[in-house]
Amino acid sequence: MLNVVEQHGVATIEKANYSLLLMGGKYLRGLSMPLFNLNPKESPKELFGRERELKELIHLIKAKRWVAVLGPRMVGKTSLLKVAGAELEKAKIKVVYVNLWGAKGTNGLLRALARGLNDEKSILQKIKDVAQRIEGVSVGTGGISMSISKRPMATVWDLLEAIGNQAGNCVIELDEVQELAAISGRLLKLLANIFNTHPNIVFIFTGSMFGLMKTLLEPGASSPLYGRSPAKLYLQPFTKELATKFLKKGFEEHNLIIKDEIVNEAVERLDGIPGWLTLYGNNITIRKLPHQKALEETISEGIKIVKDELEHFLEGRDKQAYLATLKATATPVRWTEIKGAVEIAKASTVNDATIYRIIENLKAAMLIEEKENVYRINDPMLRTLLLTSQIT
Ligand SMILES: Nc1ncnc2c1ncn2[C@@H]1O[C@H](COP(=O)(O)OP(=O)(O)O)[C@@H](O)[C@H]1O
Ligand SMILES: [Mg+2]
Repeated sequence: MLNVVEQHGVATIEKANYSLLLMGGKYLRGLSMPLFNLNPKESPKELFGRERELKELIHLIKAKRWVAVLGPRMVGKTSLLKVAGAELEKAKIKVVYVNLWGAKGTNGLLRALARGLNDEKSILQKIKDVAQRIEGVSVGTGGISMSISKRPMATVWDLLEAIGNQAGNCVIELDEVQELAAISGRLLKLLANIFNTHPNIVFIFTGSMFGLMKTLLEPGASSPLYGRSPAKLYLQPFTKELATKFLKKGFEEHNLIIKDEIVNEAVERLDGIPGWLTLYGNNITIRKLPHQKALEETISEGIKIVKDELEHFLEGRDKQAYLATLKATATPVRWTEIKGAVEIAKASTVNDATIYRIIENLKAAMLIEEKENVYRINDPMLRTLLLTSQIT
């Protein structure tokens, strides 16, 4: 039933059931073609190759352990969170998903929490009478709304207390928690208080490890979370084998069979990062681009996303020194070479402590990796961005 379609000289795609494709992307995407959907996945059948991680996360949460889901961008952290959330709700555990991206400071946290609560009607219902009485909070038909609070952290605490007292067992998912690095001291205190007083609330954190994540994950003796650090769950990129299976399965959903060498090239170039594989697959199946074009577009789109994130990371930092370090590590290097590169960029000597700090921060943010004293960037998009001088 399959016939080979020649595209640009290579037999790339075989199509069957063309009529199926004409039924409309939306219908098909929703029902039977989930894998190359660009949104974070929300149900177990859409989530590929993460059975073990999903099981472990759910097990830890049911055992009331707090968990930090770690991994590079586009590896599937939000997807894992959302799928786990859906599964936990089936087990009658209420879940509040809080997206902290862009939430600078306590007011941002408060607004993000309110948005999360407004999406979780079962909790909202239970806490609304109590929430009504919290200063600056009003509850209407549209859910919770806030007046700009002078003491937003106190309001966050009051809301969490209301949840702790009224809502039964629940999970609060804080996605992109590194956004709160600037208020980490106060946040850690708040979390320790919740830990002590409301054991029915369990937190899941995700993010790159920078700042807050590090104090969350490795709390020193003076940290309010000392002795209570969350369990760590690392999400790795797909292995070559798994990435190949992922692409093939995604193409199968569209009744396409793609030649092995083409799948291999995509796997090779996109380094097993699920988000980039998904984007590539989407470019082929939904946008109907030929292989090379789909790959190029994925890479340039990927570079754009990485560039935005990198600029976000560089805000308020010594951009020159950080960029010099990153550019140096685009090919594997040793410490002294990094120091040399930073000194050239700054046209002055730089002390060792500064270099150590930069490297530590970049490692913590999962932008670079160290193995046996060699530093390198793993993300193929980030590497290309830096090597092609698209950022200065
Ligand atoms: N295990 C997976 N199976 C299917 N798609 C995935 C998987 N992991 C990630 N994706 C897809 O990759 C993209 C990035 O995933 P996301 O969960 O947003 O990653 P992160 O939060 O780590 O940046 C999304 O398009 C998502 O649908
Ligand atoms: Mg995410």
